[in-house]
Amino acid sequence: MTPGPLLSIRGLQVVLRLDDGVVPILDGIDLDLAPGKVMALVGESGSGKSVTAQAILRILPRTLQIAGGAMLLRTNGAALDLAGVPADGAAMQSIRGRRIAMIFQEPMSSFSPLHTVGNQVGEVEDSIDRVARATDHRSPNLGDDGHPHPGSSSRQPP
Ligand SMILES: Nc1ncnc2c1ncn2[C@@H]1O[C@H](COP(=O)(O)OP(=O)(O)OP(=O)(O)O)[C@@H](O)[C@H]1O
Ligand SMILES: [Mg+2]
Repeated sequence: MTPGPLLSIRGLQVVLRLDDGVVPILDGIDLDLAPGKVMALVGESGSGKSVTAQAILRILPRTLQIAGGAMLLRTNGAALDLAGVPADGAAMQSIRGRRIAMIFQEPMSSFSPLHTVGNQVGEVEDSIDRVARATDHRSPNLGDDGHPHPGSSSRQPP
């Protein structure tokens, strides 16, 4: 028997919120990701591949919001709707970096400009090492990776 999808997305909508209205960015994404399978999302530049991944991980930039749909992640037989839990809540923190991870574009040379250095490095460190860290003093060793400002605050974007 074929196991059900690990991740099932139905009707995912993401909008760009402006002062005078909203602009649709994703308008009804449906996809099923089967366990143990590789799926490639292919499309022209600007078609929404990265925004889809950011929505799944709940790391959308502040201006973009999930406006509809469901993203069901199967966990021990139960399904958690990733679209319906707080982006920074315990459920998403335990999923990001452990069950779902993202390799950003140009991964060898850049961090995502949309999120702070601390967020991109620290949450994974925390979840893997289970070491309590004070966010204010988190200072990943970026010098080894050639980061031009390894000592800069982890609360700043790169
Ligand atoms: N922070 C943002 N603010 C406003 N619009 C955005 C933002 N991020 C993405 N978009 C818009 O959302 C759409 C989808 O962008 P996305 O980055 O997901 O495309 P992509 O398929 O990943 O493209 P590429 O192949 O170039 O990586 C584009 O029209 C893009 O301009
Ligand atoms: Mg992209």
